[in-house]
Amino acid sequence: MSTPHLFSTFSQRSVTLRNRIGVSPMCQYSSEDGRANDWHLVHLGARAVGGAGLVIAEATAVEARGRITPQDAGLWEDAQVEPLRRINDFVTAHGAVPGVQLAHAGRKASSTRPWEGSRVIPIGEGGWETIGASPLAFGAALTRPPREMTAADIAAVVEAFRAATARALAAGYRWLEIHAAHGYLLPSFYSPLSNQRADGYGGSFDGRVRLTLEVTRAVREAWPEELPLAVRLSCSDWTEGGWTIEDSVELARRLKAEGADLIDCSSGANVPKAPIPATPGYQVPFAAQIRREAGIATAAVGLITEPRQADEIIRRGDADLVFLAREELRDPHWPFHAARELRAEAARDLLPVQYARAAQ
Ligand SMILES: Cc1cc2nc3c(=O)[nH]c(=O)nc-3n(C[C@H](O)[C@H](O)[C@H](O)COP(=O)(O)O)c2cc1C
Repeated sequence: MSTPHLFSTFSQRSVTLRNRIGVSPMCQYSSEDGRANDWHLVHLGARAVGGAGLVIAEATAVEARGRITPQDAGLWEDAQVEPLRRINDFVTAHGAVPGVQLAHAGRKASSTRPWEGSRVIPIGEGGWETIGASPLAFGAALTRPPREMTAADIAAVVEAFRAATARALAAGYRWLEIHAAHGYLLPSFYSPLSNQRADGYGGSFDGRVRLTLEVTRAVREAWPEELPLAVRLSCSDWTEGGWTIEDSVELARRLKAEGADLIDCSSGANVPKAPIPATPGYQVPFAAQIRREAGIATAAVGLITEPRQADEIIRRGDADLVFLAREELRDPHWPFHAARELRAEAARDLLPVQYARAAQ
């Protein structure tokens, strides 16, 4: 069997990606009442036309309380399905697999957009009460502590993930990722730095990972057997006394047992100003270690910008997929340009027919 490379296909369950390049989920903060619009069609559509194998839509809230900002995408009600169907039909028609990231922002909810300062929006001024593992504020400009979740809140969130999964299916997504990274609700439970609970959802490792596992079980039950399920983790808090890569390996093993197919290996953002060594490919070793030690497929993400760098990650077996975020914003045709640079045959097929004769 030949070595997998950036332009080899990748299959999980019934889904085959045309290459190993995924567009990483990126919040656009441009929805009204959680509904997608023409901006999302152009943003996601351009990246499908650009040749990525997988196009993952932004963090999409499973309940209104779980939005980061009032303008976040959502799948908490049926009216949010139809505008997404149109986008997903377009993405599919252009050869990419449409994916979605289901999310709950927890204590980082009720904030202004990044270009407005990511500040707390007061209740009564368009903001809302936030919920979290423990009444500890994230910090930075998010200074308001959340309300500690009750058992009923926890059950409601698990059910919200389940219901949003059914809507994601109705919207035509064929790849689903649970957002359990970047200090939002699920990592605020699994990290010992943000969870001080005394009940069965805190304390030991088993208690802290329980909500992430329960959400994964509910999502897997609602998501068809034939479709792949991924989970994005923050593999390290990069902070003394915090969550570690060893913890992530153990959680990945348990997620695999719940039916997860891939771990998307990010890190950080549960602690403001953690000393993160953000050099090219700095999170790739997390993807490699989880793949090796937990025996599950992984995606590498973070400062992957060069075609040879991306190709090496796949060839070395450090990860099964590479996800690009900012570089895909700079160049939606990155997959085509990468194929040309790597002299991959795929370059022939990565421009749409309308462009190919003129631009190849
Ligand atoms: C504009 C923007 C929005 C983002 N929104 C999300 C998001 O919705 N969910 C998520 O898990 N990560 C989000 N991220 C993080 C990216 O998915 C990615 O992990 C990170 O940018 C590192 O990859 P890069 O170096 O290729 O940009 C966002 C990043 C950017 C730049």
